Amino acid sequence: MPKIIIANWKMAPPSLQEAKKLFGETAKIKNLNDTEIVVAAPFIYLELLINLSKKSKIKLAAQDVLWENPPVGGGAYTGEISPNMLKNLGVEYVIIGHSERRQNLKETDEMINKKIIASVKAGLKVILCVGEPKRNSIKQAKNYIKKQLEKDLKGIPNNYKLKTNQLIIAYEPVWAISTNKNAKPDTPENALQMTKFIKNFLKPKTYNLKPKVIYGGSVSSKNIEGFLRHEEIEGALVGGASLTSDFVKIIKIAQKYS
Ligand code: 13P
Repeated sequence: MPKIIIANWKMAPPSLQEAKKLFGETAKIKNLNDTEIVVAAPFIYLELLINLSKKSKIKLAAQDVLWENPPVGGGAYTGEISPNMLKNLGVEYVIIGHSERRQNLKETDEMINKKIIASVKAGLKVILCVGEPKRNSIKQAKNYIKKQLEKDLKGIPNNYKLKTNQLIIAYEPVWAISTNKNAKPDTPENALQMTKFIKNFLKPKTYNLKPKVIYGGSVSSKNIEGFLRHEEIEGALVGGASLTSDFVKIIKIAQKYS
């Protein structure tokens, strides 16, 4: 099965010039096979990168979105971006529920649920991030993820139909994200267990849509092989390493497993 590798640039790089250069490095990669590459860039770089992406096979993602799709003349949400704005610009994916937004910006499961619904309605593909803040035991982690999925996907897909490939679940244990204190990647074995758990949990709800489940948290070219060699782990969400030359190496490794 083709793997998907998603770069989450977070709040970087600091200038449009650097964003262009960084994107160019990835766009140069030849023979992508079926490996899908997505770059989640800050809103203000998306338009330029969409134009650049037309010459490559790279797709663009936003890192967040609001839960409203106001009609013309509406839109009393200063500073926010709607799903329709992203869709009309040519953005294909949107990351929703990243742990940094949950923690630092107090995003709740209810807000995340509304964002997913509005994005699905607008025809965007959703990358929903879930992950436990601490790993005491796998059992506790599974419980935590189950609750997040239940709340974040409430009413979906029963009331809001999803298209095939419209939902990706990124399993990102918060403690494994490189910017957190004492962060280290999860072991491929544990990530595999969690991936299988998520897939089994979603199976009755998402019928035959088979959402992809990918891993995120301190992914680098040194450890990605351990994750991707498991068929069930269908890709990676890459933070820090996506801003360095390591990202090209990561993609090259993913090509072997696609
Ligand atoms: P790192 O790859 O830097 O750990 O970040 C993971 C992440 O938060 C991607 O969304």
